[in-house]
Amino acid sequence: MVQTNISLKPYNSFGIDVSAEWFAAFSSADELRNLLKKSKNENKLIIGGGSNILFTKDVQGYVLKNELKGIELVNEDENYFYVKANGGEVWHEFVLHCIENNYAGVENLSLIPGCVGASPMQNIGAYGVEIKDVFHELEALSIEDFSVQKFSGKDCAFGYRESVFKRKLKNKFIILNVTYRLNKRPKFNIEYGAIKQELEKMDVQDLSIQNISQAVINIRQSKLPNPKEIGNAGSFFKNPAVSEVHYLALKEKYPNIPAYEILNSSDKKIAAGWLIEQCGWKGFRENNYGVHSLQALVLVNYGGASGKDIYNLSGKIIESVKEKFGVELEREVNII
Ligand code: FAD
Ligand code: EPU
Repeated sequence: MVQTNISLKPYNSFGIDVSAEWFAAFSSADELRNLLKKSKNENKLIIGGGSNILFTKDVQGYVLKNELKGIELVNEDENYFYVKANGGEVWHEFVLHCIENNYAGVENLSLIPGCVGASPMQNIGAYGVEIKDVFHELEALSIEDFSVQKFSGKDCAFGYRESVFKRKLKNKFIILNVTYRLNKRPKFNIEYGAIKQELEKMDVQDLSIQNISQAVINIRQSKLPNPKEIGNAGSFFKNPAVSEVHYLALKEKYPNIPAYEILNSSDKKIAAGWLIEQCGWKGFRENNYGVHSLQALVLVNYGGASGKDIYNLSGKIIESVKEKFGVELEREVNII
């Protein structure tokens, strides 16, 4: 059913109250094709959980919500399970399904909000793992000719919070389903961040995908705001990469600056949360929006803020980080 002029507030984790001219959910590829035919000459926005979007204005045209459900083990070989999930499945529920069935590889990605269909969009990542590490293939429907096409990992051109769907093929395809390649024998990844400390705190004796998932959940809950309580879209900016020379100059002036190696590059990735905190923004609040007090990379809506307010705040943060450190932050959230 197509609804007209409805509020998108329940459909975005920032809780921004804008309206959609038309809104419809689809739970089969045929339903989607019909909606695409109907909206042929209109602007279209596909959404899953709305947890990586900042609406700065009402949406003219159609908002189409992916509700394609189903998870299926489609193949296995000596080393891997191949598990296909439809795009409207909630990501964390998919992770829980994998843990229950001993499909290993997504436990570090526990509790990331949103849907399966958006997971390849920005190659979601956390605690040392990205989608590209467990990706097998996906099927996507062309908005132009309605054909269904398969994409391999190479076709997706995954990068740090990047894929071909955010670049060359932006607004050209709707991701219908994703097949992940999950390990039969888990390769535990506990090097990143506070996972080891959390496992010690939990008094874990034998590692398992269950307790790694629980450790990740505990860490995330300790610093990331729950969108059900405070509107947000996770990290608002990417962690920026800088040249080695720039990094060394910064390190000399700020010996505690957190930085990470980048594979096959001499550039370093700098923690944007640290840069923003050093500029004095952590915990900043103006009226009903601001910067989270436990994670400076997360901008928040305390209720009733407009997307424009939050967008303008992000501009001020970019300016001040640029002025103090000579580093240009890039927004990670999709601005509509
Ligand atoms: P949406 O917000 O609905 O859409 C995101 C973009 O993808 C939009 O441009 C949309 O048009 C497009 N899109 C969505 N579905 C489809 C589809 N089926 N086909 C084509 N295009 C589509 N991200 C991380 O990577 N790591 C984290 O640790 C992380 N932590 C977060 C913590 C919090 C508290 C929050 C609120 C967000 C966090 N995020 C994180 C961001 C977010 O969870 C991910 O980007 C997630 O994949 C978004 O999924 P979604 O279904 O909500 O996408
Ligand atoms: N830091 C500060 N001040 C802050 C926040 C962070 O100094 O206010 C420092 C921390 O002390 C630490 C470093 O920055 O030394 C990194 O912080 P953290 O481990 O919290 O991770 P992050 O770099 O801020 C990234 C991802 C998250 C992901 C976590 C865990 C990006 C843009 N963000 O955050 O992803 O969950 O690592 O892997 O890469 C998202 O994309 O929405 C997201 C939440």
